[in-house]
Amino acid sequence: MALAAAAERVAAEFEYSAQDVQRGVKEFIRQMDEGLGKQGATMSQIPTYVTAVPNGTEKGLYMAVDLGGTNFRVCSIQLHGNSTFSLTQSKVKIPQELMVAKTSKELFSFLAKQIETFLKTHHNEHYVNHVERRRRGSYIGASFHDEEVFHLGFTFSFPVQQSGINKGTLIRWTKGFDIKDTIGKDVCALLQKEIDLLHLPVKVAALVNDTVGTLMARSYTSPGKTGTLLGAIFGTGTNGAYVEKLDRVTKLKKGGSKAAGDVDDSTGEMIINTEWGSFDNQLSVLPSTSYDKSLDAESNNPGIQMFEKRVSGMFLGEILRRAIVDLIKDPSVPLFSDEHSNQNDIHSTTNIHDQSALWNQWGLDTSFLSIASGDTSAGLKVTRQTLDNDYGVSAASAEDAEAVRLIASAIGKRAARLSAVAIAAVILSTGKLSHPTDIATTNDAKLEVNEDEIVDVGVDGSLVEFYPNFEEFIREALRDVPEIGVRGERRVRIGIAKDGSGVGAALIALVADRAGKGATAASSSTSAGAANGGGLSGFLSQFMADLNRNLRMRV
Ligand code: BGC
Repeated sequence: MALAAAAERVAAEFEYSAQDVQRGVKEFIRQMDEGLGKQGATMSQIPTYVTAVPNGTEKGLYMAVDLGGTNFRVCSIQLHGNSTFSLTQSKVKIPQELMVAKTSKELFSFLAKQIETFLKTHHNEHYVNHVERRRRGSYIGASFHDEEVFHLGFTFSFPVQQSGINKGTLIRWTKGFDIKDTIGKDVCALLQKEIDLLHLPVKVAALVNDTVGTLMARSYTSPGKTGTLLGAIFGTGTNGAYVEKLDRVTKLKKGGSKAAGDVDDSTGEMIINTEWGSFDNQLSVLPSTSYDKSLDAESNNPGIQMFEKRVSGMFLGEILRRAIVDLIKDPSVPLFSDEHSNQNDIHSTTNIHDQSALWNQWGLDTSFLSIASGDTSAGLKVTRQTLDNDYGVSAASAEDAEAVRLIASAIGKRAARLSAVAIAAVILSTGKLSHPTDIATTNDAKLEVNEDEIVDVGVDGSLVEFYPNFEEFIREALRDVPEIGVRGERRVRIGIAKDGSGVGAALIALVADRAGKGATAASSSTSAGAANGGGLSGFLSQFMADLNRNLRMRV
């Protein structure tokens, strides 16, 4: 079979039609409802617990750490009390062996060690003073004076059954992590234990999923008065957290992880961490090619996170790798077979190195999809060079590169359209488009959208950031849903909340800290530079207002 025809055949397997999108949205809404009603549903729909009481002049240093995929990030946020904040951060790759360690201790002691290094590097004076005070014995019993201790927001981006602002047990690992010993344990306690063993002046004050942090950060930074509905991650993994009506979270009334009486219902709303990566594990509507199936079968969690395995960065490269390897092995398809080498500008023989990462599971990085799909260079030179430099395929022809590009684009587009299914389902199930003013105030002719009609969505992650046209593909699919259509899609504002999870976690740590102290005062604020305009007091008071409006919870 000619190469182009073979590539088109494979690409067609990843088509995800308008009907597929519509069917997907219906089922997504059904599974969201199911998750709100009972524990143990496919989509976990986890209630989050956040206290929203900061009302003082915020000054001081807060910390956040972020464990969510490939890297561990440690950062500190200095609130200056004068309308600015500064953010210092460091990042380290998680060693592969720790992701599948035998004991939780191996991983969590590594994390604590990074916090220690960060403190010594960036806050050495504070650290040394603390050690000195300890030496002099100026601490109360086992606990230190509160003002000496950093309050830390722990962004832990895995499914956790949260039972308090800094308490939650791991339900399951995702994204290649697999440490059996951690399942069912309180991850804050595990981290605190290792921090204490190193005698660090750090208290794990808040446990936050990255989507919740993203929602927080976006809700605070998004322009205009519209509160953010959804924070979503399309990165190594995928997930979303959204603002839900409290009375729809019926499992709380049934005495789930927390009794209904423990929940402050003054706003009538609560942020729900959907854990949509596990949408449709039963594959009732999700598309399934042979590549999806073999990827899942050979993963460390078969049958789990089936939506994530079709959408997120951890998996898209592997889907493409499997498709490419199948074509290479098919004797009737001349991929990388030198058939076109007379047209190569390198004039040498096409060759795949024995040690090529293409032969290894997870060997193809998802960033390659972005490179190939977005390649506009003559003869797809950039793709060919990347194949050569990073994947040991020397002298690939333009036709080879075009075949690879076609398949990569199809996989990326399917991922974006599936992402739209999740976004559409949240928008429709929360009724955000059916506000009575929607129709009255929308200008049909120009399709202009008033500020108060906007449905704000904060996103973060490598795919939305780097995959070419990811948002446009999402929008196309949103328009394919009749209940949203062209008009509804125009009302959806999608904005990047870059590194929102870290900032969000620090903010929630601050909230938890202040709530713990029961302080009263005016407001101060932080800003990501001057991005928030109104300055620090604007920042925190706005943040508090958003918190109070969106999700005031008591633990
Ligand atoms: C995790 C979520 C997380 C998402 C994005 C998923 O694998 O289960 O908790 O929010 O990845 O990082």
